[in-house]
Amino acid sequence: MNAEPHMNGYDVAALRRDFPILSRKVHGKPLVYLDNAASAQKPKPVLDAIGSFVTSEYANVHRGVHFLSGAATERYEDARRRVQRFLNAAHEDEIIFTKGGTEAINLVAASYLAPRIEPGDEIVLSVMEHHSNIVPWHFLRERQGAVLKWVDVSDRGELDPADIARAITAKTRLVAISHMSNVLGTKTDLRQIVRLAHAKGVPVLADGCQGAVHGTVDVKDLDVDFYAMTGHKLYGPTGIGALYAKRAHLKTMRPYQGGGEMIREVTRANVTYADAPMRFEAGTPPIVQTVGLAAALDYLDAVGREKIAAHEMTLARSAARKLKELNGVRIIGEAEEKGPIISFEAIGIHAHDLATILDREGVAVRGGHHCAQPLMDRFNVAGTARASFALYNTMEEVDALIAALGEARRVFG
Ligand SMILES: Cc1ncc(COP(=O)(O)O)c(C=O)c1O
Repeated sequence: MNAEPHMNGYDVAALRRDFPILSRKVHGKPLVYLDNAASAQKPKPVLDAIGSFVTSEYANVHRGVHFLSGAATERYEDARRRVQRFLNAAHEDEIIFTKGGTEAINLVAASYLAPRIEPGDEIVLSVMEHHSNIVPWHFLRERQGAVLKWVDVSDRGELDPADIARAITAKTRLVAISHMSNVLGTKTDLRQIVRLAHAKGVPVLADGCQGAVHGTVDVKDLDVDFYAMTGHKLYGPTGIGALYAKRAHLKTMRPYQGGGEMIREVTRANVTYADAPMRFEAGTPPIVQTVGLAAALDYLDAVGREKIAAHEMTLARSAARKLKELNGVRIIGEAEEKGPIISFEAIGIHAHDLATILDREGVAVRGGHHCAQPLMDRFNVAGTARASFALYNTMEEVDALIAALGEARRVFG
């Protein structure tokens, strides 16, 4: 499994040794982990950073004057600066820690958009959004009379920025769009979408839960207003994500949750709030997870984000080509610009059955609607199987996927 030649100095065999879980077996077969779009495995530097922090530096943050609290606060704020660097944000106080991508988007819905929505106001989104970038807007529809305006994708799964621009009216309050689809792999032209939306005075939220994983992100260059990301898909721990929001927006946003650490002063009669980012981080934050996330971002940059993306796309292109050579397999999502996420259906086999049989061969893929039911509807499928590639996958694993598919087709005749 590790015998792959090095591509451009990219030593996948060495990288795999950083991920202890990859050497385990599943159902007696070597694990072929291709469910990375759901969550990625964690390298030793992340596990070690968490272990050593909890073992020798742990305390609550921003509260104590004692040594450990100071040290933990420093690690926590270092992690914020690490995320700032990762996204190339202008200011560290533009990074709000959340428990994941979902919470980051909900924060924008509750703190930024809800106070601005009058009945009939519009939110523009695409049919390929994850439920995390749909349901918070449905809340505003149900509770405040917002109107969701859906922008379609082409049969290849491409999103035309001009269609977004055409959907914007004088009533549009936000464009909410994914940077990369978690089903189709489509990479949106975020820069152009932002340019067109801003020309009409409309801010843009990007769901970067997948987009941040494959390649570099520069929120300053994109000029995006809000960017949501999640740690567990970036080889970091669960329970940690971040929202990037422009400072100018944060200054206008009301607090999301109330509690400790987000206040300036509380009296019996009144409360005043801290500035961002603390204003949006009520309660004890996920301290340990931020340390793990910072280590994961260090790891990604040490390997090289562009190199990783190139490696992943080599695998994904090969997998797509080999899948197409199989009779009765249809790939859903063939955008020109896409990441290493491949959805497919094997005609006559339910996506769950397919995933179950592949699992018996040791191949972990996801089967189902992938939290994107409007997209399933668009492509007229109940679900798809999805293989998604990470920095540690190999060409041999692509072949293992194809071989396991052959087995599934044999079983289902
Ligand atoms: C595109 C996209 N958006 C949002 C999410 C939600 O992220 P989280 O589960 O970390 O809240 C996911 C993860 O499944 C995703 O793929």
